[in-house]
Amino acid sequence: MITIDTEKVSPHLQEKDIAGRMPAAIEALDSLLEKRGPGAGMLGWLDLPHMSEREIDELADTGKAIREENDCLVVVGIGGSYIGARAAIEALPFEAGFPVYFAGNNLSPVYLDALLSRLDGKKFTICVISKSGTTTEPAIAFRLLKRKLIETFGPDAIKNRIIAITDPAKGALREMATKEGWKTFSIPPDVGGRFSILSPVGLLPCAAAGIPVKGMLAGALGALETFIRSSGTNDALRYAVVRSLLHDRGTKIEVLSTFHPELAMICEWWKQLAGESEGKDGKGLFPASTIMTTDLHSLGQFLQEGARDILETFLVAKHPLRDLTIPSDQQDLDNLNYLAGRSVSEVNAKAFEGTRSAHEAGGLPVITIEVPSITPDTVGALFVFFEIVVSVTGRLLGINPFDQPGVEEYKTRMFKLLGKPGA
Ligand code: PA5
Repeated sequence: MITIDTEKVSPHLQEKDIAGRMPAAIEALDSLLEKRGPGAGMLGWLDLPHMSEREIDELADTGKAIREENDCLVVVGIGGSYIGARAAIEALPFEAGFPVYFAGNNLSPVYLDALLSRLDGKKFTICVISKSGTTTEPAIAFRLLKRKLIETFGPDAIKNRIIAITDPAKGALREMATKEGWKTFSIPPDVGGRFSILSPVGLLPCAAAGIPVKGMLAGALGALETFIRSSGTNDALRYAVVRSLLHDRGTKIEVLSTFHPELAMICEWWKQLAGESEGKDGKGLFPASTIMTTDLHSLGQFLQEGARDILETFLVAKHPLRDLTIPSDQQDLDNLNYLAGRSVSEVNAKAFEGTRSAHEAGGLPVITIEVPSITPDTVGALFVFFEIVVSVTGRLLGINPFDQPGVEEYKTRMFKLLGKPGA
């Protein structure tokens, strides 16, 4: 379902270099599957695609009930407790028909105020997601949204309009949910935020939006089975090896480029996954993204002729689910009739091919990741594929891909500035 073309890194890496590091990648994969090595206690994400029918049905049924009883859902969360759900929902516009709004992923009063106004007169449910249950951004948004619920429906009605997704036993959100009697789903303790898209964290908002979560999980399971094979045909391992070798030889940035704007948030999800997992101990490829063709009219210049310390990875869907034919024009004043009768997708595909060969000629190592179409199963597959690649790369770089000690620094300083008791 996912194919990866690493042929175009050949001017930068020899086949023997890749083969030389493959045993280390296989050992890295084995350490993940055997749940050993740094971060061994946070490998529960490998089990998520095996979710039971009962759990899947409960998520799907809850999502259906949210859709039937409301005008919209507000999902409150940040980082791994937010971005995967948004990525899937935006990638699948033909599946997701029910409005899902996101809050708690910033501290902008303008954003929050606009959201609160948008909820005027609407029937809505809040899904508040936080593993720790104490993260400042979602906690502030949740307070404001809870007040809106009370103002709109009265204090007694809110019990059935809040769903909390959090740690099964501890944290402020779990305590509140237990005390108030809200419906809850659990985030497995051995699953870190950025690896939680295939847990209720990502699946409940997707189910509410109308995405068949069974399909997403089936795609994820297929990818898991394909990419945990230790054989030479495992392209996830090969991609991880290429990334780590280029890193060691001076590549500093990996740009994920796509010609499908609906994948923009998938790129953001990948940036969070790769950035928070690999960027530590002075190591890691800085993850960036471009959305084409719009970025060909901005960052394209840099990719073509700027600093040559970039790996460019193209994320491609071969067959778009919708297409349009370019009309003919009698006057042809725009000289576009040579394209009349051809599809927009064909032009997009040629733009991709032309860009890839131009950037390759410009001296960038180039990788292509391709899925047949953007569907629930391929989106699920992409999540697992990237999780494996990032985890194996982390092991090859000699860091723990499953912690994020660096994110505490801003919090410590912010709390001090805010006068938080005990800060
Ligand atoms: O990947 C991570 O662990 C983080 O991005 C967290 O998901 C993010 O900080 C939110 O944490 P929490 O779910 O505890 O509110």
